[in-house]
Amino acid sequence: MKKDRRQFLKNTSLTALAAVTLPSLLRAESNLGSASQPPVNCNPTTQDYYGQGPFYSANAPSIVNNQLALGTEPGTRLIISGRVHNLDCTEYIAGAIIDIWHADDAGTYDNTGFNLRGKTTSNSQGFYLFESIYPGKYLNGSTYRPAHIHFKITPPGYPLLTTQLYFQGDSDTPADAAASISTGIYDATHRIVPVTTNSLGQKEATWDIVIDGTGNPVGIEEIRSTMGMIYKVSPSPFSDFIQINYGIFQRAKVSLQVFDIQGNLVADLQELNLEPEKYTAEWRPDSTVPSGHYFVALKINDIQVHYLKVIKEM
Ligand SMILES: [Fe+2]
Repeated sequence: MKKDRRQFLKNTSLTALAAVTLPSLLRAESNLGSASQPPVNCNPTTQDYYGQGPFYSANAPSIVNNQLALGTEPGTRLIISGRVHNLDCTEYIAGAIIDIWHADDAGTYDNTGFNLRGKTTSNSQGFYLFESIYPGKYLNGSTYRPAHIHFKITPPGYPLLTTQLYFQGDSDTPADAAASISTGIYDATHRIVPVTTNSLGQKEATWDIVIDGTGNPVGIEEIRSTMGMIYKVSPSPFSDFIQINYGIFQRAKVSLQVFDIQGNLVADLQELNLEPEKYTAEWRPDSTVPSGHYFVALKINDIQVHYLKVIKEM
């Protein structure tokens, strides 16, 4: 069939890379119902019932190297990443200021300095990422608040949103006056995110922020689900190579791109016209590509329809 088709790669300013894409033997239709990454729903991010709470400090410093917590901070490492979208998710928003604060492993806030407090910004592709530690719990009256992270998010030219992020499976969520709200303007449903543990023992969570603002066009939900998606990028963390499994659901111009955390393009798979099928691509960055977080994006007919994050180790 199309066994010998290969995709050749354009070198970029940052790295020469080697990758090849071969059609999988499987047909696309066989697996569409069990994709490991279901399309993201577009749910506008709500404010939190508790607002900013009692422990906000203005003028937190910029986060350096995406490390909200120093490596010496006690606790389980936690990586939060996502993308900032406008309210109907048709655009991604670059340059949104994301002001973050949370309690330490023992459930205590630093109210004199700025430990576990900092600001980051969504990058030129709308992505953000920070690494910290899983927040400890503290008493609120007679019950513990579930583990949570506070945010103030300000898209360029738009008002700020003050909210909190929670984690699935927290036994203190049902009794919490804010996290348990599931309707109305304080609905926390889409701010309670799943947490996974990677092979380094770090917890990871993805949280896409949907907020009033303007940016650049991005594929909408319908486009993703009808055009194609990335099923899996593995292994993560990786050192030498990653394998990207993706599916195309109708004949289209397709390319894969890899961005670093600053939004710089580091790898670009040459655009090809592909038939609906499952495909596998491989990226072998050369040794000059530094360790860190990377986003793999699938572009179909010039629209970025899906992305997944991976970690590169040295
Ligand atoms: Fe809090």
